[in-house]
Amino acid sequence: MSFGQMPIANGFLNKNHFEGEYFFELAPAFCENCGMFQLMEQPDPKKMFHSEYAFFSSLSKHMQEHFRDFAKAVKEIIPAASQDTFVVELGSNDGIMLRHFKEGGYRHLGIEPSQNVADVAKKNGIETISEFFDLELAKKLVNERGHADAILAANVMCHIPNIQSVAAGISHFLKPGGVLIFEDPYLGDMIAKTSYDQIYDEHVFIFSATSVAYAFGLQGLELIDVQAQSTHGGSMRYVLAHKGARNVSKNVKELLEQERFQGLNLAETYLNFKSNCERSKSDLVKKLKELKKDGKRVVGYGATSKSTTVLNYCQINGDLIEFISDTTPIKQGKVTPGMHIPVFSHDKFNENYPEYALLFAWNHAKEIFEKEDEFRAAGGRWVLFVPDLRVI
Ligand code: TYD
Repeated sequence: MSFGQMPIANGFLNKNHFEGEYFFELAPAFCENCGMFQLMEQPDPKKMFHSEYAFFSSLSKHMQEHFRDFAKAVKEIIPAASQDTFVVELGSNDGIMLRHFKEGGYRHLGIEPSQNVADVAKKNGIETISEFFDLELAKKLVNERGHADAILAANVMCHIPNIQSVAAGISHFLKPGGVLIFEDPYLGDMIAKTSYDQIYDEHVFIFSATSVAYAFGLQGLELIDVQAQSTHGGSMRYVLAHKGARNVSKNVKELLEQERFQGLNLAETYLNFKSNCERSKSDLVKKLKELKKDGKRVVGYGATSKSTTVLNYCQINGDLIEFISDTTPIKQGKVTPGMHIPVFSHDKFNENYPEYALLFAWNHAKEIFEKEDEFRAAGGRWVLFVPDLRVI
């Protein structure tokens, strides 16, 4: 299916600097052979991950807690900290997870191509290099630093188009008993909730256990465990090891069966998803037009990457949404990609509450509802669009 012409999801622009804004066709497809759900065309990664990358992981309190727990779970399955225990993270962002390994005395390395977020990690004493990971880099790192006990990635693996080179690099980089642990938004959740906003330039793949087992299996890695996560509106953590090196948990078989039961292996499921996306779009646009007609003020909450797909697919512009309120300093004072809606800090939201707030950061709803209880108390209402349109 096609969501039409899309800009870079995190490509926030300075006002009046729209010339040359990059667009590509956001068109996902499903492969019945390998079970992969992926984009047909992806912009050059250098257009997305660079020295002005707008996503800083540590801004969310909930994500801080999540990565503390992720690090704890990793420590339980790898050898105790020593000079020999080596933990590597791909796409380590501002060091939100690796800092727990640094503090625990582990030898560690972050590989983060976006220079600005990597600099924040380095400033905090987390060893980080600013490069794209592939087989070639893995060979160089093994020569320089030896093999790894664990390779971690959170919301990163699904960003990398050259997945076979990455999988081959990981297979080469890991010690014989080493583990690859990564998590990403889960296809099963996206289909069940019609959360099509997970589909944007950075997410070249939306993985399932079926597609992960297949893709990494081609490079001698075996899926040995899976654990569902609540982050990003429904994610899956995958644990892999060299084939035969570690026991396979029964969770793997159960999830593979559940995916067949959900129909994730059938083209028909995706045709159904397509019509659900179209319905979601028309419900949301209808609601926003109604509110405008009634003279209500509507503000967006959270200028997420996900919101770029929603805004551009639904063609929602500054006519329907006054501005979007967001905590990220690098986004504030700019306008959103494609639809050019202004982004301001939460101060502007708090100064003069709108009547309705459209929650683009719906995956952080709990944290946000708690933080913004005064908005509700002042009569404000939240508009949600996942899994269905609701005004609460
Ligand atoms: P996230 O769902 O992690 O984003 P993405 O779709 O980009 O993966 O949400 C992060 C964005 O939401 C980020 O721009 C900051 C914003 N945000 C707020 O503005 N206020 C908040 O309270 C929270 C939790 C996030």
